[in-house]
Amino acid sequence: MSWEQAWLAYHCVVNYEDASYFEAIYTLESGKIIDNALEELRLATNKMFGKSIAIERSMPQKGICLMLIEEISLNEAGYKIERKNNLIFLSANTQKGLLYAVFALLRLAACKVSLSDVHLVSVPDKEFRMLNHWDNMDGSIERGYSGNSFFFKDQKIEVNERTKDYARLLASIGINATVINNVNVRAEATDFITEPYLKQLRVLSDLFESYGVKLFLSLNYAACIDIGGITTADPLDKTVISWWEERMELVYQHIPTLGGFLVKADSEGRPGPFTYKRNQADGANMLARAIAPYQGIIIWRCFVYNCQQDWRDKKIDRARAAYDYFYDLDGEFLENVILQIKNGPIDFQVREPFMPLFGKLKKTNHMMEVQIAQEYTGQQIDLCYLIPWFKELLTSRTYCGEDKDTIADLLEGKCCNHKGRGIVAVANTGNDENWTGHDLAAANFYGFGRMAWDSKLSPEEIVKEWISQTFSDKREVVMVLTKLLMMSWPVYEKYTAPLGVGFMVTPSNHYGPNIDGYEYSKWGTYHRADHFGIGVDRSLKGTGYASLYNPPLAMQYEYADTCPDELLLFFHHVDYNHILHNGKTVLQHIYDTHFEGAKKVEEMLSMWEQLKESISPEKYERTLIRFQQQRNNAKEWCDQINSYFYRKSGIADQHQRPIY
Ligand code: GCU
Repeated sequence: MSWEQAWLAYHCVVNYEDASYFEAIYTLESGKIIDNALEELRLATNKMFGKSIAIERSMPQKGICLMLIEEISLNEAGYKIERKNNLIFLSANTQKGLLYAVFALLRLAACKVSLSDVHLVSVPDKEFRMLNHWDNMDGSIERGYSGNSFFFKDQKIEVNERTKDYARLLASIGINATVINNVNVRAEATDFITEPYLKQLRVLSDLFESYGVKLFLSLNYAACIDIGGITTADPLDKTVISWWEERMELVYQHIPTLGGFLVKADSEGRPGPFTYKRNQADGANMLARAIAPYQGIIIWRCFVYNCQQDWRDKKIDRARAAYDYFYDLDGEFLENVILQIKNGPIDFQVREPFMPLFGKLKKTNHMMEVQIAQEYTGQQIDLCYLIPWFKELLTSRTYCGEDKDTIADLLEGKCCNHKGRGIVAVANTGNDENWTGHDLAAANFYGFGRMAWDSKLSPEEIVKEWISQTFSDKREVVMVLTKLLMMSWPVYEKYTAPLGVGFMVTPSNHYGPNIDGYEYSKWGTYHRADHFGIGVDRSLKGTGYASLYNPPLAMQYEYADTCPDELLLFFHHVDYNHILHNGKTVLQHIYDTHFEGAKKVEEMLSMWEQLKESISPEKYERTLIRFQQQRNNAKEWCDQINSYFYRKSGIADQHQRPIY
């Protein structure tokens, strides 16, 4: 199967005044990472400027120099790019930093940025910039929308040219860690920690290391039962403890560079310490102790909830679960445990408040998990550029009582009494030719990496860079695509579940509308719509979830009058005639946004059609088909939502538009 090069296509760059620097390259360094950096420069120069770059043994008259320096402020991954006379100097403390510098220089060249005054100092602001793949050993991908896995086929691990290109893509945007297998570790994946698999994983780990990427694996908490033959997985049991100690020793004998493990425990049927009446810290710390001698890390997910909530019980709330299980354990986790917290309290909806553990956990390492696999945001059929949403999350204030109190500050470790360590995304790739199914969904992959490196970047500048590298720097292409991508998240929000209420998707596959799909199932995600109103009461009269935030957010969310419109139905059950801050009733807002959303998708389709002459026919056609599907999907959402609420409430649309 063939594949494209995404934003590393290195299209021919014409009329670039600084192409002449790409004649010669000089470095005294050697090693696998440097070899890869030089290979990248060679490949890119060839493709962008049609010439081969010479590797010089002495400093050339004109060209590029890669140098290791010692500069504390650059830490272990940052770099500098500067011009001095006829030379472009790339410098860093480490070879990894130099590799990042090379990719940055190539990005500048692909975007035709002048190098005459270049003085770029770039240091990643988050320690971990990580992907989580939900790939299974049989080659399928849980919530995968871009074909099958390129890591696994027929229970085997694959390491080939595509895996190398994957590592290049990661390094080019600064991603430094990846988990290649599904968090739901079932069947053969449990055996990853046995010798035959460890040998193959070593090859993959070495490849990743040569691109500055740490390999992590998802772990089955009950592996000691499944492969160890022990009858318990009680974290305080001595046999269990020694089994894991021995197992970790074996693992690290084979893969000394392994980053560690990701664990989903006590969630959606996965085993965990709760079975043995132990808490989450008991489980995580047991593994952390076993892995500590090898500097390994246990990443422990906070997505722990009871998925069988009785609809009659209006006090129990899935949104509270992570907070209720983990808040009291703050400070109980060992230093080599990192909690991985989903961005919102439910599950990657198009809009949710941020999880209140952010700003509340003070003594525990943690990272934020977002999802670029578009499970609930159009499944890479509908366009939804998520970086503006992530930017909004990152810039949200947590009011934790310190100067620097946004989520970005926490994750960057700037908030002095908190222990933020980075950001993670559930990956959106597969073995499709274009990696991400929808060609434009690759902007989420690229954008995640760039924003993980630097929270200060704007979603718009990221998207422009991505377009120039992936498609072309033609003005019209950049303008139209930027507009399309930037409008896509708000438009998706308009035609799907309204005002933060979430879900309303088809159960199990999660694509397309099914308003009552989860309302009458036992999964515990309700919207509670009736003849009079809709929404979940999470104030103190209801589940009390709003009060989990630091003030003033707790008060703001507690009352319908002060709650922001976009989250109203997440926090409150209100009448359809409740007046929003925008002056409309809830119901009229639902009608208006749904008609508007569906119409905007028509516009998006025509915007894409405008680009027909400027995009390669293959990319154009396959994307066109997706926009057509999106148009139908948006129409279906609009029709279903509007007729549902019209028939529930009996209140007509003020503008008498067709509602069935
Ligand atoms: C969602 C998703 C599951 C996934 C889970 C998780 O519930 O639908 O497929 O396993 O999230 O994050 O663990």
